[in-house]
Amino acid sequence: MALTEIDLYLDASDLNRQLRAEAMSGLTARPKWLSPRWFYDARGSELFEEITRLPEYYPTRAEREILAAYAPEIAEASGAKTLVELGSGSSEKTRLLLDAIKPDCFMPLDVSATALREAAAALATEYPAMKVHGLVADFTRHLNRLPRGGQRLVAFLGGTIGNLIPAEREEFLSGLRSALDPGEWLLLGTDLVKDPEVLVRAYDDAQGVTAEFNRNVLHRLNAELAADFEPEAFSHVAHWDADQEWIEMRLRASRPMTVHLRRLDMTVEFAAGEQLHTEVSAKFRQAGIAAELRHAGFTPVRWWTDTGHRFGLTLAVAA
Ligand code: SAH
Ligand code: AVI
Repeated sequence: MALTEIDLYLDASDLNRQLRAEAMSGLTARPKWLSPRWFYDARGSELFEEITRLPEYYPTRAEREILAAYAPEIAEASGAKTLVELGSGSSEKTRLLLDAIKPDCFMPLDVSATALREAAAALATEYPAMKVHGLVADFTRHLNRLPRGGQRLVAFLGGTIGNLIPAEREEFLSGLRSALDPGEWLLLGTDLVKDPEVLVRAYDDAQGVTAEFNRNVLHRLNAELAADFEPEAFSHVAHWDADQEWIEMRLRASRPMTVHLRRLDMTVEFAAGEQLHTEVSAKFRQAGIAAELRHAGFTPVRWWTDTGHRFGLTLAVAA
């Protein structure tokens, strides 16, 4: 009989409190901003899964190719008995790691309770000999709650680390290092710098799924803060910033708008053409990743890419 346990470090009221605080600061700032974690309610997690199947969105396929080729090496090099996955979502590619590592315990961690519960239930059925211990938690706040011991490998896949801005990334990596014991492992997926046209297409697909994913944050503000955004009046923008080497997603107001957020007693004005910043998705180079990992107290041990050199996977050990 498979064992499944879910720990809740965030519930709907914590999230609502944080969303209120962020809407108050982000929507009164210049430029206006909201962080990408708000995309991922039940609908947003489904839209992300749809994105992963789009012809233009190569990162998921590229990372799956690497995992399919090297999961046995990852299992052997790390000798892990527990697999932790941060921002686990559907844990779809993770099955390649589970098949190779055959861990005693799998610990997916995600802010999206629906995605986490669904994935945990499916995995518990597919891997009856493995304990599934899920955490509904925020990887920027709750890494210190990860149970210690168990010869852990922490997988952070998909390039989600690129959704943190550099200062957050540094804090995240040093926090993760503190949550691990020397000799425990990190497997880090990073999307790589490439032709801007390929990048922009991946974030502005022809079917408009990414645009819907981006607008989902406005639907969420409407539902959770009793706001009256008209999501269709905002157009999706995917901009390549060549200096920062990241894609920036924004929502551009097509006309002047006055938006009310009733639960905050707040009114927000948008000028025509004004852009609300919703996500950065940083693209990396091998040397930069290795330097950031070393700075945080990890030693990079192995580096793989897919055959098209689009995506990188680093195996690093806590020094
Ligand atoms: N790892 C999967 C999913 C990537 S999508 C893959 O590679 O396909 C990003 C995931 O991170 C989503 O499931 C989202 O809910 C989760 N996420 C985003 N911000 C988070 C945060 N601050 N803490 C925990 N999970 C987060
Ligand atoms: C989850 N994360 C790595 C995705 C990315 O590519 O930055 C989120 C995403 N945003 C738009 N499309 C996909």
